[in-house]
Amino acid sequence: MPIPVPLNETLNRFALIIVTGGSSGIGCSIIKAINTVVPEAVICNLSRSEPDVFLGKKGVHLSTDLSDAKQVDAAAAELRRVIGDLPPGEVLLVNNSGFGDYGPTQEAEIDKQLNMIDLNVRAVVDLTLQILPEMQERGGVVMNIASTAAFQPTPYLAAYGATKAFVLNWSLALNEDLRGTKVSAMAICPGPTRSNFFKRAGFETPPMEAGGFNKYLDMTADEVAKCALRGLAKGKPLVVTGFLNKCIAFLGSKTPRVLVTSLGGKVLRKMRLGEG
Ligand SMILES: NC(=O)c1ccc[n+]([C@@H]2O[C@H](COP(=O)([O-])OP(=O)(O)OC[C@H]3O[C@@H](n4cnc5c(N)ncnc54)[C@H](OP(=O)(O)O)[C@@H]3O)[C@@H](O)[C@H]2O)c1
Repeated sequence: MPIPVPLNETLNRFALIIVTGGSSGIGCSIIKAINTVVPEAVICNLSRSEPDVFLGKKGVHLSTDLSDAKQVDAAAAELRRVIGDLPPGEVLLVNNSGFGDYGPTQEAEIDKQLNMIDLNVRAVVDLTLQILPEMQERGGVVMNIASTAAFQPTPYLAAYGATKAFVLNWSLALNEDLRGTKVSAMAICPGPTRSNFFKRAGFETPPMEAGGFNKYLDMTADEVAKCALRGLAKGKPLVVTGFLNKCIAFLGSKTPRVLVTSLGGKVLRKMRLGEG
């Protein structure tokens, strides 16, 4: 997939690009794609482990567990300090860190579910709001990684899907709230993507290791990153990655909710039992 020409111009607007979860998967691919287009970009990564990718000569890794509100506070304070020392330019914030927790809700570990909500929802709102004043002064974009799981209830990934529905709706509403300001917000909705996600979510047979969901549906993290950056360059508030994902997201949001929940349950239950 070729990267569109205006991406170069778009990325050059940013004096700082903040990415959460750049140590693997989609976040790592977003950083790599940015490096390819603008090698001099200044990237700040927030995750627990240090990414194995170049963050730019002046880039920095802030080791942060974003599910811990105190660590989000500390990282936000450091980011405000970094932004204060920057030359003129906008700020891009990519809220990407997240994980899923697979299985029937009644069997879920409460701590893991709450930790997931803290990371996928609380940290996204907290980090964004803490640096939004600085972004409003300079201009910028908040890019939030949601999921196609956001478009319908997701049995066996009940809380995960709900966190992503929050991220999707919050991002779109935030974008409207920010209308007329120098900041915009956008939601990226990837479908199944090859990364550590499925292993961490606890799938008995991670679908990506068992041949994938569907060759027309599955994407690589690099492909998702390119879609996200192309959407950024086009100023889109919502990006659903890939044609089939767009169709599924559309149908998922138009099908009666009780029916789509039951259909989703049939598909996701099979994966747990290794029948899929
Ligand atoms: N893969 C898919 O099929 C898929 C589909 C739709 C949406 N998404 C979304 O895409 C985003 C990226 O997922 P991925 O597929 O790239 O999975 P991944 O390879 O597991 O990457 C997850 C990233 O999140 C970071 N992270 C996890 N826990 C964290 C914590 N407590 N504090 C800070 N960072 C943390 C990880 O870094 P550390 O472990 O170093 O902290 C890692 O860099 C997630 O929001 C996910 O929900 C994924």
